[in-house]
Amino acid sequence: MVKKRKIKKIIDRPKKKQLKSKKGIEEEEVKSSTVKEKFVPQALRGMRDILPEEQRYWEYVLEKMAKISKLYGFEKIDIPVLEDAALFRRTIGITTDIVEKEMFSFSDKSGREIALRPEMTAGIARAYIENGLSNLPQPLKLYTFGSLFRYEKPQSGRQREFHQFNLEILGSASPVIDSQIIILSQNIFKELKLETELQINSLGCPLCRNEYKKKLLESVRYKKKLLCPTCQTRLTKNPLRIFDCKEKNCREVSYTFPYIIDSLCDVCKNHFIKVLENLDELQIPYNLNPRLVRGLDYYTKTVFEFWPVRAGLSEDEKAKISLAGGGRYDELIQSLGGKPTPAVGIAFGLERIIEEMKMQKQTPPKPKKTLVFLAHIGEAAKKRALRLFEELKEEKINVKESLGKDSLKAQLELANKIGAKFVLILGQDEVSHRTIIIRNMETGIQEIVDLDKIVKELRKRL
Ligand code: HAM
Repeated sequence: MVKKRKIKKIIDRPKKKQLKSKKGIEEEEVKSSTVKEKFVPQALRGMRDILPEEQRYWEYVLEKMAKISKLYGFEKIDIPVLEDAALFRRTIGITTDIVEKEMFSFSDKSGREIALRPEMTAGIARAYIENGLSNLPQPLKLYTFGSLFRYEKPQSGRQREFHQFNLEILGSASPVIDSQIIILSQNIFKELKLETELQINSLGCPLCRNEYKKKLLESVRYKKKLLCPTCQTRLTKNPLRIFDCKEKNCREVSYTFPYIIDSLCDVCKNHFIKVLENLDELQIPYNLNPRLVRGLDYYTKTVFEFWPVRAGLSEDEKAKISLAGGGRYDELIQSLGGKPTPAVGIAFGLERIIEEMKMQKQTPPKPKKTLVFLAHIGEAAKKRALRLFEELKEEKINVKESLGKDSLKAQLELANKIGAKFVLILGQDEVSHRTIIIRNMETGIQEIVDLDKIVKELRKRL
């Protein structure tokens, strides 16, 4: 016994040295692991529960998104939450915030560096290559939904665990495909009755970027010192990132720099013109935004975002709570060892969309009212009610029960609360006489009917 307690103490003892020596561990995280007795179970920072009362928003939004996507020929794919960390470094880019600062990466028990997915596109590209999906008829249209992880500073609209509905079209270089994914996205927002504005830009191809880099370096020559150290290194490695910098000085000075849209090669320029012409054809309004560079390195040509439109929101605020974003990524699959596969995609941020629905006062339709409530009195009746509930469900009758409650008063109160039209009451007597009481909650009238004919009796009244 004494031995056991000793062992437990050793296990419970905090690994102080180890914890304190690790940089970047937040104070609260150190505290919670060292003081075991005071442990208060709590969700991690930036992660939250989605409670039943909010689920109707989630179900409504996801159902709409999946339904519309299927109409456009998209099929569902699920990919793992964990991937080799190298996948994200090679695709999203080592100089992006996501890879540099925000990846939840760690070594697994075999010492391999793995990461919780910060986005879906890289995983889908890997799955496309690994499963030979290029052998299916192209372009292949895939959708997925799930949680993503980015170690960001939690704030409104920015969490460490969040959810995306993601669409990808793989295997077509045609500008009409860019336009179609934008139109589909616009339709999703229209269906959700959300006011949004489409921001669009083109980031060109490696050829345009070489040209652009020369122009940018020329223009920056005398202003380099005004940039933060990170942007100074970005200038040569990944100049487009400058437009994504949050530093005030960098933002101000970047307005004097040339934009990539003015350095597009003929191929990229023509592609972009066609995308815009298609949008014009369908009278889809857009805002040509030369500063839109997106936070991931794999993009080529068209990029776009949908920002919320609401009184009082500045341009910066809109950009910060972008509801969806995407673009073309023609080189990504080949860069991972696949065949050359031009592709385009978009991801919708579920938390932000649901928050925006609340701000724009768009509520999902109320769930169907429960029509029938099944109440019981006594043990024998409870047992029969358990079976009757199954029988009614099988007959597709919208019925609720409260088998966990024994008091009839409490059961009737619940029936009242959920607005049931009829309550079925099953007591000892009813079970032995194979009958059941139907109580009309509006009129208060009660009738005794044959238990074996309950489905027929209910159908007559519903
Ligand atoms: P992204 O712009 O990083 O793109 O994310 C898309 C959307 O996810 C954002 O517009 C936003 O609504 C939501 N989101 C991003 N980060 C957070 C966060 N920390 N908290 C809450 N919501 C967030 C991508 O992820 C690309 N993979 C999209 C794509 C698909 N490109 C091509 N195909």
